[in-house]
Amino acid sequence: MTESNRLRIAIQKSGRLSKESQQLLKSCGVKFTVNEQRLIAHADNMPIDLLRVRDDDIPGLVMDGVVDLGIIGENVLEEEQLERQLVNKPADCIKLRELDFGACRLSLAVPNEFSYNDAQSLEGLRIATSYPNILRRFMQEKGINYRDCMLKGSVEVAPRAGLADGICDLVSTGATLEANGLYETEVIYRSMACIIQSNQPQTPSKQALIDKILSRVNGVIRARE
Ligand code: PRP
Ligand code: ZN
Ligand code: MG
Repeated sequence: MTESNRLRIAIQKSGRLSKESQQLLKSCGVKFTVNEQRLIAHADNMPIDLLRVRDDDIPGLVMDGVVDLGIIGENVLEEEQLERQLVNKPADCIKLRELDFGACRLSLAVPNEFSYNDAQSLEGLRIATSYPNILRRFMQEKGINYRDCMLKGSVEVAPRAGLADGICDLVSTGATLEANGLYETEVIYRSMACIIQSNQPQTPSKQALIDKILSRVNGVIRARE
């Protein structure tokens, strides 16, 4: 029985968006307690279940209609959409709104000793990334040939480890790049957290709850501005 009368919201289990995602829902009046060992947290005062999962899984869960809402970085959403379009999987969802946290950028970066003029400096080189589709789109637009080095994590150590010449990774404060002797050369995508809804038809009561949550999100963000 995978249908549920309760609204399912997927949020990041741990990472850059997890605290603020929980905080936003609490500010909207959703009462819940997170048990670190548990995937699901049931709200006490509304028919809402929170699913705490890997950020990368959130867009797919929403696009497949497994959950009703998700809070996710636009970068992860964009990457998953491009990936799914390639393999003809459902790639649509409704972006309800951009949120006021999770700012980051997806950037190209190279070792400090690399002399970089423009993106052409990467012609023929190998680039490590967890965002192969956004990177490919950028490089195709510029007409640059490059080679992939697909890594789900630790992308920033790839050049020093001799796995790649440069990287394409998320930058927020820049501390990770600096700690790894890399500098940012090109921003290829700017991102914020956003809230997305599955485009499956909803029952009137669930849609009413979504509308209520969204109007509270709007109020919370307006009050924080
Ligand atoms: C990103 C990125 C770097 C870090 C950069 O990971 O991969 O590790 O943040 O942040 P900084 O510029 O402030 O040092 P993130 O935790 O967002 O995602 P992930 O755990 O899904 O890789
Ligand atoms: Zn991730
Ligand atoms: Mg990381």
